[in-house]
Amino acid sequence: MTDRLVLDYTGMLAAGIGDHGIAQASLDVAATRFRDVHAAVARQRTAGKLGFLELTDQSDVAERIRSFADGVGQAFDTIVVLGIGGSALGTIALQRALLRPFWNELDDEERDYYPRLYVLDNVDPTTIGPLFDRLDPGRTLFNVISKSGATAETMAQFLIARARLMESLDDAYRRHFIFTTDPEHGVLRQLAEGEAIPTFSVPPNVGGRFSVLSAVGLLPAALVGIDIEAMLRGAAAMDERCRNPDLLQNPAGLFAALQHLAHFERNAPIHVVMPYSDRLAGIADWFRQLWAESLGKRLDRAGAEVFRGPTPVSALGATDQHSQMQLYMEGPFDKTITFLAARERPFDLVIPEAYPDVDALAYLGGHSLGGLLDAERDATRSALSRSGRMNMTIEVARVDAEAIGQILMMFQIATVYAGELYGIDPLDQPGVELGKVLTYGLMGRKGYAPGDEGRAADRRICS
Ligand code: PA5
Repeated sequence: MTDRLVLDYTGMLAAGIGDHGIAQASLDVAATRFRDVHAAVARQRTAGKLGFLELTDQSDVAERIRSFADGVGQAFDTIVVLGIGGSALGTIALQRALLRPFWNELDDEERDYYPRLYVLDNVDPTTIGPLFDRLDPGRTLFNVISKSGATAETMAQFLIARARLMESLDDAYRRHFIFTTDPEHGVLRQLAEGEAIPTFSVPPNVGGRFSVLSAVGLLPAALVGIDIEAMLRGAAAMDERCRNPDLLQNPAGLFAALQHLAHFERNAPIHVVMPYSDRLAGIADWFRQLWAESLGKRLDRAGAEVFRGPTPVSALGATDQHSQMQLYMEGPFDKTITFLAARERPFDLVIPEAYPDVDALAYLGGHSLGGLLDAERDATRSALSRSGRMNMTIEVARVDAEAIGQILMMFQIATVYAGELYGIDPLDQPGVELGKVLTYGLMGRKGYAPGDEGRAADRRICS
């Protein structure tokens, strides 16, 4: 029986925080409208457009992943994921949430003999160079992940990794790659066929940022011993909950509707997600991409220019209490804050009692560090509410694979509902595509040097 995720939205409503909150009447209207939103999303599901919802029902794929991960995969000391955006952020979130902290620094026994895991998500040579210098090519498996099979950053990472492997392994380099890509299209698929490199597929109806529960996230997760079956169970349980057209019983629906109401009724287009847990910090970064790339659109569904979309921000408690919180507490009323929290943690540290005469230290003694973190979250939540700042809390029993599956699925479904509410298509990313095309153009231009694209006559520079 899954411990159900809880969404406390008291702090979003006028009844909870005063005039800056959402009026009950608005929520009532949203609940009525939600029945149509829910029905529209159900139609998209039936039409096969929402492939990410089908990923919880893929026991054959999960079995294949499990058998590769437990077999061939364990011949390697290190896994390196080459990918970017939706092909990397989910795995980073899983790694941060579900592996022991400082995983790559643990010795083999402490890691239960599972491999180390690095996820690149960028093409900065000052990171990649030193990482590749540290790797033992003969003991490293590169999982190249690209749905399109052509993304410039990932292909560049791949070409460098391949050259490095070929230097020391010659033709055997092939055994150190596994590709995750489209089942039919793209360069990566062609290379895999030509060079007999094993592959896993990203289903065509699953977009990059919705792919964490496909082989994109499941393969690297399984390779390092994460319980992918439990994660899929959690996701399935959330999907089941979200089949309910009653807004107040549907956590993804509530999250989307409240954010949308906050945006258009309370002028709050900035949506902060703030875990009070280092382990959930990657989820906030993953959510930021999901919300931004899905909902930030020039055109609405009818093709009219609307330039719509909320701005997601990721924060971390208690760290950001000493960074962004001043703004959240006293700046414009243009934000919502969603806390992510876990009721239990695997262990805690007691703060020693010392300096009984020093008030600034004595009050801490005897409490736990986790207790301090929880108290800071409660205090911040209550301070925000008292200052009329919209906030809600998503709470799970503990950070485990099932809970992470629930959270991931909740945010993905919420994004699709939000797409309906904002009147845009949350599944495409035309703005990103333009940047990709321009990158091809620049890199392909003979004699191109960085900065060339801006050397127009009207360029203004302060140097
Ligand atoms: O969500 C998306 O579609 C993007 O963020 C992609 O994941 C990202 O651009 C990488 O694309 P690809 O997996 O095709 O290399």
